[in-house]
Formats: sequence, C-alpha cells, structure tokens
Amino acid sequence: MKVLRTKSIEQSIQDTEEPEHRLRRDLSAFDLTVFGIGVIIGTGIFVLTGEVAKDKAGPAVALSFILAAVVCGLAALCYAEFASTVPVAGSAYTFSYATIGEFPAWIIGWDLILEMALGAAVVSVGWSGYFASLLDDAGITIPTALAAPPGEGGTVNIPAICLVLAVTALLVLGVKISSRVNAVVVSIKVAIVLLVIFAGLFFVKGANYHPFIPPSKPTPSVQGLKAPLIQELFGSAPVSYGWLGIFSAVAIVFFAYIGFDIVATAAEEARRPQRDLPIGLIGSLVITAVLYAAVATVVVGMQKYTELSVAAPLADAFKAVGHPVFATIISIGAVVGLTTVVLILLLGQSRIFFAMGRDGLMPPWLSAVHPRFGTPYRATIIMGVVVAVLAGFIPLAELAELVNIGTLFAFLVVSVAVVILRRTRPDLPRAFRTPWVPVIPVLSVLACLFVMINLPVETWLRFLAWMVVGGVVYAAYGYRNSRVGRRAEGISYKS
Ligand code: ALA
Repeated sequence: MKVLRTKSIEQSIQDTEEPEHRLRRDLSAFDLTVFGIGVIIGTGIFVLTGEVAKDKAGPAVALSFILAAVVCGLAALCYAEFASTVPVAGSAYTFSYATIGEFPAWIIGWDLILEMALGAAVVSVGWSGYFASLLDDAGITIPTALAAPPGEGGTVNIPAICLVLAVTALLVLGVKISSRVNAVVVSIKVAIVLLVIFAGLFFVKGANYHPFIPPSKPTPSVQGLKAPLIQELFGSAPVSYGWLGIFSAVAIVFFAYIGFDIVATAAEEARRPQRDLPIGLIGSLVITAVLYAAVATVVVGMQKYTELSVAAPLADAFKAVGHPVFATIISIGAVVGLTTVVLILLLGQSRIFFAMGRDGLMPPWLSAVHPRFGTPYRATIIMGVVVAVLAGFIPLAELAELVNIGTLFAFLVVSVAVVILRRTRPDLPRAFRTPWVPVIPVLSVLACLFVMINLPVETWLRFLAWMVVGGVVYAAYGYRNSRVGRRAEGISYKS
C-alpha cells in the first residue's frame, strides 16, 4: 500500500548529506541538554502550578509533577533509542517514516506542528502577561486593547507578536548564535528556580501541608464537553482533589515537560548524535523533574493552596510573605525564561517543516537552506508569522490542553515504533537501547493513553478535527509529491 511506503534509514541519513539540504553539525551533548532545559522549564512551572494546586491536587501537586515526569521518562527511553539510531531532523516524524510508513509519519509531523507552533503561541501569550505586569511595576501601563486578544478584553496582543517575530529572526540567523543566547538565558532561568526553592524554604509553614491530599469533592463545573474523557467513558462523577484530582492534574502539568522531545529534533545538528542525544534527552528530563518537585513543594508550603495565585503563583507567594523584591526578580526571570521556550519550540517546528519539505510531503522549496546562515529560513519565517498571528489574536488558555494531547499522541507512536523497528531492522547499530523492550514501550503507551483520557472531551474533538484537516492536505499534496514515492516510480526529483 502506497500510504505505508517507508523511507529507509540509510536513505534518510543520505538525504542529510546533500549540500542544499545540509544543516551544520555543531551541537554538543551540553548544548542539547541546555536546549532541553531551555524549553522544558516555562509556563508549566511558572504559571500552571498555582492553578493546579488550587483546583485539583492541593499540596500534593508535587506528586502530579512526579507522575507526569514518569510518563515522559518512559517516552524518553523510547525516544532516545530512535534518536540515536536515526539522527535526522524531524524527530518522531522521521522515526515513523522509517518504520510504520508515510501516512502515519505525515500524521505525526502534522501533530508535532500542532504541539510546537501552538505551544509557542501559548507560551508567548504567557510571556506577554508577565511582561505587561513588569512594565506595570515600572509605572508603564500597556492598554489592555493592545496586550490581550479578542475574547479576553483586548484587540490584539502586541507584546506576544513582537516576541515571536524577534525569536524568528534569531533562528534565521543560525542555530549556533541562538544556542549561545539560549545558554545564557537558561542559566538565568535555572538560577531563578533555585532562588524560589532556597529562599522560599525559609517561609514554609508545616500547617500548609495539612491535609496533604485533600479529600475529593464534586466539581459540577466539569461537565459536558469540558468533562475528562475518562469520566464519560466510565460514568464517574467529576471530582477535584484526592487521587483523582492528582491524576487530572497530571494531564495539565504534563505541559511543563513538553519540549524534551525537541532535543531529538536537533539530531541532525548534533556532533555525535549516538552519544549526545540520549544524554540530552534524559538529562534534561531528570534535572527538571527534580526542580519542579522542589519548587511545587516549597510554594504550597509558603501559602495555603487555596490562596495561591493563578497568574503568577511563584512571584505572588513571595509577595504574600512580604518580599515583593523577590517577586520582581522572579517575574524578570519568568519573562527571560519564557523567551527561550518560545525560541526552542519554534526551532523544533521549523525543523519538522524542513524535514517534511525535504521529503516532498510539503512543497520542497520550504526545505532549502540559507546559503550563508545554514538554516531552513523559509520554513522558519513562514511558521514564525503564522505563530505570531495566532499569539496576537487568539485566546489560547484552553488550547494548551490541545498541545498536550498532540504531544502524548506523538509519544505513543514513538513507543510503538521502537518495538516495530526492533523487529524490522534488528541489524541497525543502536547507540542507546531502550531497556526491557517491549515492557517499557508498552508501559509508555499505557501511561500516555491514561493521561490522554484525563483530558476533556472537547480537546479530543479539536484534536480529531486537526488530524482530519491533515489527512485532507496529505491526500491533496503529499501523496502525489512524496520523494520516496517518486523515487519508487522512477520520476526524477527536483527541489
Ligand atoms: N514545557 C514548556 C512550558 O512549561 C512548554 O512552558
């Protein structure tokens, strides 16, 4: 069947050697880990912690962060094997093209564009909130009309648009420049997180941890399309707190880890992908999981969970204990830190676009590399403009859940594909082997599914709609123009 044609791994690697499609190989294991941390620590810990502790998990929110890390860790073990075997730009898209087939690969690529482009838009909107509040501290007020999208009391979110366009310009200039800028920014962000942990410890009150897991209680607002799918499937009553609350919080704080998979999308630019990618993937995940659990535990100890702020919980916890200066420093760190998240999400999605263009599944002129900067500038600029428009005009709070479902689906496919590739290509050298195959991949699939069914029904419907649009685009363009398909039919390929 043509839609299941695969691109051989040797062909994938050979394509990266063509001069007009070659990216520079200059990222080390350290650069990759910094990339990972740069995109992982962001809106999840700086913003979502408060809402989730307040509405769903209570003081036990750190458990939700740890459970989410376990789900990501299982997927990371699968990602690491693939990334170290198929060191070609495109992440799960490339992996599935080499294993399951072209149409599933298209679906994954389409899905990853959803994750990264929409994720970048969500984070830049979060950034603009912190930015506006910092300017406010300095006595400068941006009118709401110019700092919020329609539907949230404004007309257009100018700061978010400016951020996305500035980051796009950096990416066009080259990965090395942006990874250096990124390294500095990541250091600031980690320093701020450590500041919250160590300064916050002095204000922790034991009483705030009681009860650690508040008893579950019904929340009638979570009904109809807003109800988690699991509730519709099993007919259980919607509740907050208790263990069910901790699980439903996992489906949201999962957003806080999104991005470690993007380390894999930079495979083609790594100096020694076989060794560096597994270090980058697993290293960045472990470091952030420890930091998140510590931050979450300290913050719910500083303030009663019912009193945590939803917009800026880390900064506001310090205001609540009478230290506004710390709060301002944290806000500055958040503004700086969220910038790197947008940067890496946009980098990741431009590389997927690049890989799909190179394969002829998107118009191939998209994948041409800039002669001087060595970056896929057309894909980067086009998607940068699209993301800027999304960030400027669309209220994105609920769409964060859409980002989560897309990412979980990609993890699920990679976990399945690792098992398939072991069977179909046992001969390939694998610098990193997922332990206990097929146990770990199966656990990864089950964990992803469990988190997915904890997401609202409306999120599932939106996700399905995006996928249907993707299927139509593939039928109309990719199916006919696929490079693999043309090779098979002996049609010469022009880029
Ligand atoms: N993990 C990233 C964040 O928390 C997307 O903002």
